[in-house]
Amino acid sequence: MDASQGNEEQRMQIRGKIAELYAPESAGLLNSIKLAEEAGLPNMRISPIHGKFLQVLVATINARTILELGALSGYSGIWLASALPSSGRLITLESNPLHVQVTRRAFSEAGLADRTEVREGKALDLLPQLEGQPFDFIFIDADKINYVEYLNWALKLSRPGSIIVADNCIPSGTMPRFPEPGSEETIEEYNRQVAANPNLVSLALPIDDSQLDGFCISVVRQ
Ligand SMILES: C[S@@+](CC[C@H](N)C(=O)[O-])C[C@H]1O[C@@H](n2cnc3c(N)ncnc32)[C@H](O)[C@@H]1O
Repeated sequence: MDASQGNEEQRMQIRGKIAELYAPESAGLLNSIKLAEEAGLPNMRISPIHGKFLQVLVATINARTILELGALSGYSGIWLASALPSSGRLITLESNPLHVQVTRRAFSEAGLADRTEVREGKALDLLPQLEGQPFDFIFIDADKINYVEYLNWALKLSRPGSIIVADNCIPSGTMPRFPEPGSEETIEEYNRQVAANPNLVSLALPIDDSQLDGFCISVVRQ
């Protein structure tokens, strides 16, 4: 074993310990994974450490309303909605009808039907319907090619103190990670815009180096 393999193994052990201690998956989360696998959905969900980090952010601002773009099987939605008070609300936008079906079932079986809503359609078609109701927390995790437009909507649909998080947002240089051509450039542009926006305090942060990805976190200035 060379030194780099040893370091990698050590990092994995530390990650495992952190995940086990701080981010154990609830029955609802494990069920969302099982439903996704049974339905043949791709594994594109966030990691448990990412999920717990989202919960920490939601708790930090005592968020009561959350908007998510891109549900898949409701895995990240369950982390987010579980951090809400019972009177809170998460709306998630999802374009794939099968993913919508799995997510609705996963939310219901996680006991979160009362505070969650899954809207079916392309996010850019659905977002105008949400105008006028600012969200405390917005999680962007749909198609990467539209991230800059999603940022414009997130700015419209937030208020001072809101937090906007975008997944897969660590600029990767030239390495292509996403199917739609132009996605890497869009992510670079997303980073440039949030970093330069005087109304936001932002940072791109690798949360869990089991993925080459991370979150871009922006707080809307008070
Ligand atoms: C990376 S997955 C979401 C993973 C999920 N947030 C999680 O961590 O559990 C991206 C999802 O966005 C959906 N999606 C892709 N393009 C979309 C669009 N234009 N509008 C809404 N949803 C879209 C895909 O169908 C897929 O379910």
